[in-house]
Amino acid sequence: MAEHGPRVAGPGDRARLRILLEVIKAMSAETDFERLLQLIMEETTRAMEADRSTLFLVDHERGELWSRIALGLKERKEIRFKSHLGIAGHVATTGEPLNIPEAYEDPRFNQEVDRQTGYRTRTILCMPVRNKAGSIVGALQVLNKRAGVFTPADEEMLDALASQAAIALENAKLYEDLRKAYEELKQLDAMKGNFLANISHELRTPLAPIIGYVEMLLSARPGPLTDRQRSHLQVVEQAVQRLQGLIEDLLAFVQMEQGELLLQTRPFAIAALLEERARVLTPRATEKGLTVEVAVPSGLPDVQVDPKQISRALMLLLDNAIKFTPPGGRIALGAKAHVAPDDAPPGWPHGYVEVSLSDTGIGIPADKIPRIFEKFYQVDASTTRSYGGTGLGLALVKQIMEAHGTRLAVESTPGVGSTFRLRLPIAHPYA
Ligand SMILES: Nc1ncnc2c1ncn2[C@@H]1O[C@H](COP(=O)(O)OP(=O)(O)O)[C@@H](O)[C@H]1O
Ligand SMILES: [Mg+2]
Repeated sequence: MAEHGPRVAGPGDRARLRILLEVIKAMSAETDFERLLQLIMEETTRAMEADRSTLFLVDHERGELWSRIALGLKERKEIRFKSHLGIAGHVATTGEPLNIPEAYEDPRFNQEVDRQTGYRTRTILCMPVRNKAGSIVGALQVLNKRAGVFTPADEEMLDALASQAAIALENAKLYEDLRKAYEELKQLDAMKGNFLANISHELRTPLAPIIGYVEMLLSARPGPLTDRQRSHLQVVEQAVQRLQGLIEDLLAFVQMEQGELLLQTRPFAIAALLEERARVLTPRATEKGLTVEVAVPSGLPDVQVDPKQISRALMLLLDNAIKFTPPGGRIALGAKAHVAPDDAPPGWPHGYVEVSLSDTGIGIPADKIPRIFEKFYQVDASTTRSYGGTGLGLALVKQIMEAHGTRLAVESTPGVGSTFRLRLPIAHPYA
């Protein structure tokens, strides 16, 4: 290799290569733009065995070069000058590096800076800094080599440092942009959360008198109803109840997401709830030609849960089972106690009850399973048009389960059916 290169690699080169690698590592680790500027200058001074370094950046809008930190000056300050001035200006304009052995003999050198700072510049080496696209974005300048003048080997070294600085600067800029975009998104998300919370409160208010008056009319206290009137009112009642359920779910979702919904857990008989949920849904299932089976063993222990939230989660899962199972299908609800099993999670010393909901529905493709718990996600948005749905159901179920410190497991085969399983902690026997 050495025969082909212009110079013979010696021990000095190896040492410089090591320094260069260190600098590259340090630069690529820094993602804060301001700190990176400082780091580039410090590391360049060290690697170049010079007295000070300055990284000038091009401000295209103002036609200026600027630098934030003048290393070695007592105070850090921003320097700015017209981009064609001085050695750095020349390099940034022409794109040619400059190696100047005696600054005061070069007419392009601006002696004014030395006069202002009380510094005495002797040797200067200055390299253009180019971005990936090849445009000049700045100039990296080192002053006063500790010993002698800057050599061609120094030029190569500074060139390598300048390329590396350009990459690091671009990365830091990208990172900063990403961080800003992320902050904005987070703000937007919080605004959306507030909006949803407000709107669901607002929607809930007018529903109360509608339900109240429909129920009053149905009670026939204001006057007798014909059968037709009664059946029409019952349709209204069901629709309003459905609307109310949707709004309650929406509100619960927003509250969960904003961490505002605190669970109120107590020992609770889950078996009765399963039977009751199945009973409530059976008319709707029968209407669609589905059968609902409940297989709950007797003597199931109480579980430590928030009954309202678990009831909500079961409703949402059953609603999906009915929605995604074609006529003729079957929905099965089951429960099984695992009393203090060997693999009992540390938080559940008494074991758990596993509740399962199976359907013989359309199933979920394996690659879509992780996504169905995302808010608003639906495998096939066209079913929403025929059956309704917001894509919030499973996201809410997942949040409810997480709030209980447990998870939801799914097995599904497209065209065969799906099973959802939830584990609920068994309550303390003496609680
Ligand atoms: N039992 C199920 N069988 C088949 N697909 C299901 C089942 N439950 C949920 N999914 C899929 O997961 C998606 C998300 O469910 P969910 O969050 O409840 O939203 P929604 O019911 O409003 O569509 C559904 O749109 C559907 O694609
Ligand atoms: Mg749903």
